[in-house]
Amino acid sequence: MSENVASFLYLVSGVLFIMALRGLSHPTTSRQGNFYGMIGMTIAVVTTLALAIPSPAGFAMILGGLAIGGGIGAVTARRIAMTSMPQLVAAFHSLVGLAAVLVAAAAVYAPESFGIGTVGAIHTQAIIEMALGVAIGAVTFTGSIIAFLKLDGRMSGKPIMLPFRHIINIALAVALVVLVVLMVTTQSNTVFWLIVILSLVLGVLLIIPIGGADMPVVVSMLNSYSGWAAAALGFTLGNLALIITGALVGSSGAILSYIMCKGMNRSFISVILGGFGGETAAAGADDGIQRTVKTGAADDAAYLMMNAQKVIIVPGYGMAVAQAQHALRELADKLKANGVEVKYAIHPVAGRMPGHMNVLLAEANVPYDEVFELEDINSEFAQADVAYVIGANDVTNPSARDDKTSPIYGMPILDVDKARTCLFVKRSLGSGYAGIDNTLFYKDGTMMLLGDAKKMTEEIVKAMGH
Ligand code: TAP
Repeated sequence: MSENVASFLYLVSGVLFIMALRGLSHPTTSRQGNFYGMIGMTIAVVTTLALAIPSPAGFAMILGGLAIGGGIGAVTARRIAMTSMPQLVAAFHSLVGLAAVLVAAAAVYAPESFGIGTVGAIHTQAIIEMALGVAIGAVTFTGSIIAFLKLDGRMSGKPIMLPFRHIINIALAVALVVLVVLMVTTQSNTVFWLIVILSLVLGVLLIIPIGGADMPVVVSMLNSYSGWAAAALGFTLGNLALIITGALVGSSGAILSYIMCKGMNRSFISVILGGFGGETAAAGADDGIQRTVKTGAADDAAYLMMNAQKVIIVPGYGMAVAQAQHALRELADKLKANGVEVKYAIHPVAGRMPGHMNVLLAEANVPYDEVFELEDINSEFAQADVAYVIGANDVTNPSARDDKTSPIYGMPILDVDKARTCLFVKRSLGSGYAGIDNTLFYKDGTMMLLGDAKKMTEEIVKAMGH
């Protein structure tokens, strides 16, 4: 296959990736978007394979890599629980970073194979791309490993604040810039490895001060970095598809980070500077004040909901853990059959990844027109008879609205406390992801339905009768 045909096919796959992103922006078009993405990726992979045919050894190595890497990826993805998806994504990002480092190293030691000059006389443009690519790749590699360890609970989610960390980070960043300039001028292998080492350290230092509650933003930020690392790789390898996909991942990751920051009312800079959330003090939990909690059973919930005019359902991470979405849909069907208006309210960071709740509700065939984003439904809680909060916690916590000392202060929340009755389904009075107590459990209008989300919902459906 000629280079021109390959470039054209890569361009076609790039256009398909853009159409995929567009499709994925709405649930009704997301299947189509996925389909475009799959076709685009197939074209890109087949084109790359076709380019490698003239070199049997290279072709065999690509097939071997595909079989081993693809095999490991397929088995891991099948085994992983939906709830562990964020750490899996973080782990995969680290591999993109590592790949960028390895390809850049290969290009430094064997530039002829990449058509970018000879050892010690690599083209200036290529060496700049490599130096930047390797720095971003190494930061992505160690940063993603730390994110994986924190999300997987193998390392404390607490922010680790080193003294003078800002000064250390700025010093490292300045040293990196100096090294990149040195690399371009001297083309020294030692300088190359110094860039790698400094960037690996910077990756660790950038992520350790970031607390648990900011982790979603970090994952999408690392996603963005991995995209830029891949784009830099694309320049080194002269691969148009990699440049386009890398840039798409880089920019969409950055936009997603921005949207999430907005969802949590946090500035991007304050997330990067770290120190928010984690296993910090459970605000109000140990203040010695006796609190009473009203608990109820499935029968009470069934009665309240069947006699309501309007019920708003608020799903959260616990619904995903319990896989309660199908039972929930059944409950909504019963209510609708009884003339009750039912709507679903989704917080932008409910669950553990963007769109987590939307995916689960779609899986249970909940009609899209019943599902609303926070800003579109929040004013309706005041007219609702019941807010059915199923496995959600942080996204309803009024301390985000009222308590300036709370670690989640400023995050917009779903105003479930404005509904006449708030039914809270969870297994205990324990805290959610941010590790802080929820004062809503103790309010007059709240009834706690303690139990597994799926079991409790099924019992309520049963109690509703035929
Ligand atoms: P959380 O605040 O994490 O609360 C989930 C609640 O579900 C827990 O308090 C838990 O209480 C309950 N639960 C767990 N298993 C259950 C089961 N089988 N049945 C019933 N309840 C169960 O969830 P949320 O309100 O969805 O908020 C999301 C949080 O995660 C936010 O802090 C957000 O910043 C963070 N986060 C979000 C993302 C994205 S992008 N969405 C990514 C990472 C982190 P019990 O133990 O008492 O049952």
